[in-house]
Amino acid sequence: MVSYKELGLVNTREMFAKAIKGGYAIPAFNFNNMEQLQAIIKAAAETKSPVILQVSKGARNYANQTLLRYMAQGAVEYAKELGWEHPQIVLHLDHGDSFELCKSCVDFGFSSVMIDASSLPYEENIALTKKVVEYAHQFDVTVEAELGVLAGVEDEVSSAVSHYTKPEEVVDFATRSGCDSLAISIGTSHGAYKFTPEQCTRDPKTGKLVPPPLAFDVLDAVMEQLPGFPIVLHGSSSVPQEYVDMINSLGGKLPDAIGIPEEQLRKAAKSAVCKINIDSDSRLAFTAAVRKVLTEKPGEFDPRKYCGLARDFMEELYKHKIIDVLGSDGKA
Ligand code: G3H
Ligand code: 13P
Ligand code: ZN
Repeated sequence: MVSYKELGLVNTREMFAKAIKGGYAIPAFNFNNMEQLQAIIKAAAETKSPVILQVSKGARNYANQTLLRYMAQGAVEYAKELGWEHPQIVLHLDHGDSFELCKSCVDFGFSSVMIDASSLPYEENIALTKKVVEYAHQFDVTVEAELGVLAGVEDEVSSAVSHYTKPEEVVDFATRSGCDSLAISIGTSHGAYKFTPEQCTRDPKTGKLVPPPLAFDVLDAVMEQLPGFPIVLHGSSSVPQEYVDMINSLGGKLPDAIGIPEEQLRKAAKSAVCKINIDSDSRLAFTAAVRKVLTEKPGEFDPRKYCGLARDFMEELYKHKIIDVLGSDGKA
């Protein structure tokens, strides 16, 4: 058993309370490798932003749980080395799909876990969430739950349509499950194809797709039911067209990739939405950089050259999200 406190990490409780009061959101960036982690920590340290390092089940399998634990501990030390005296860093399990996985993360130094039982029937979602909460809270680890189903792929859970969270269920769910934060469905979805072209309109000037707005009425109704309760938005990549265009012009194939407009995320961040999940944008930045180096210098075979540029692109992206979208700069 390793406590996250020994690793210098924090849970989300105080972080979320401050974010709701302050009208900003904490970035939850997924990481799978060293370059992503370096870029996240550099961006957070330079902007003095609290940050959530998010690890999916797939990332945990990819990176190895023991290595991950030391990477997170290393991240705290790296942040200090960069001049961030008291780093506010959370290590969070993204989309945990079983009690056993959540328990293993709690036991391995995570400071926060998500149990995503949103695809189960309502009562089963409550029961499984409650079981995770009861275990995690013994170690002061915070728990995120999900109610409502996002369209797209949620790890191995697939849903063709989005089912918005039902505001009339949230009080009962939060009270009976004991969760610390709640991910809701208001029209975001995972990946780089959040809307089909049929769901969008087209800007006549640029020919670019314009997505339908998020269901802010659902968010407002949830906040009315659960005043001051931490709300989480998954699937919040904006799919920057500059990266999509770069990838496509360098031999990639991402037709009609589209995300959530950043103004809408900024608006959400000012509300009780205090955690915003971003993964796909970082993948796009990484891929654009790798394609650029390998296309411009076909003879290059030193991974530090293309992974190095990928790291630079991601750091820029993370800083932009922190400062211009979430407003969490200077809050740690
Ligand atoms: O919500 C899903 C995250 O983007 C993680 O994706 O399962 O491919 O690591 P992954
Ligand atoms: P994106 O695919 O929009 O980056 O969402 C990531 C996410 O929700 C991770 O849990
Ligand atoms: Zn997610």
